[in-house]
Amino acid sequence: MKLIALKDGEKLMTRRKFIKTIFGTLLTFISLVSGTYAYAYYIEPRLIHNNRQLISSKKIPKSFDKFKIVQFSDTHLGFHFSLEQLETLIKKINSEHPDVIVFTGDLIDKPQNYQSEKKLIHSLNKLRATSGKYWVYGNHDHGGYGTKMIHDIMDQANFTLLKNNYTTIEKDDERIILAGIDDVMLGKPNLKQTFKNIQPDDYTILLAHEPDIASEVSEYPVDLQLSGHSHGGQVRLPFIGHLYTPPYAEKYIQGKYKLNDGKMNLFVSAGIGTTRLPLRLFCQPEYYTFTFMH
Ligand SMILES: [Fe+2]
Repeated sequence: MKLIALKDGEKLMTRRKFIKTIFGTLLTFISLVSGTYAYAYYIEPRLIHNNRQLISSKKIPKSFDKFKIVQFSDTHLGFHFSLEQLETLIKKINSEHPDVIVFTGDLIDKPQNYQSEKKLIHSLNKLRATSGKYWVYGNHDHGGYGTKMIHDIMDQANFTLLKNNYTTIEKDDERIILAGIDDVMLGKPNLKQTFKNIQPDDYTILLAHEPDIASEVSEYPVDLQLSGHSHGGQVRLPFIGHLYTPPYAEKYIQGKYKLNDGKMNLFVSAGIGTTRLPLRLFCQPEYYTFTFMH
């Protein structure tokens, strides 16, 4: 009888231990998931990183040594990215003292619902660049009846639109070319028209919202393509990487790529804001500072 009672007690203890272990594991799992979610929702989207890159090429003219271009992309204002956050970004960009500032598309997440155009123009006007501010359309700029609205905002903020054309940036009788194409998804991009008068000897930069167009761009004498659109995937898991990127950002996801036997560099920015899901995990928001070296 004594032996059986002990066995029952042991069984009870084992069952209690088992239930405790299950509860413990479940609580740890829930804490981990909610902690990761809180980090991806509240913290990482605010950790804006300045990605600094040195660009060297024999084609960069001597006068453009130390020339600085700041690129920002995909702000998606109105979707978990506020004007206050934009103001902070503007201060950071201005502190770089850029020669040129470029915006590579997707200013407002849903233009048809946006109400703060005047404040936005006021903020964007604070961006300072000695040789000009330029931009290209993204799919969210054309989407939601945004084409004219975004154009008006950028125009009043002193940004020049590059839409299947280019501008010449001059310094001490030397020059580089800055070109831009219309959005690939919802616009009418035309590479042939964009590059028809470009001389292969000129150092040429292309702004294109969607990075995957680079495969076609590499057939033209382009030295540097700057893109966004991918958001770097927004959520990246260890050992797996990104789970999703939009169409035309499936080949080139984030960072630096070399094309055309190394003659063309492509940089894909993870962008500033978020879309669809207000989360960033192992995929910090970023803006680029490119410094040229002769
Ligand atoms: Fe975007």
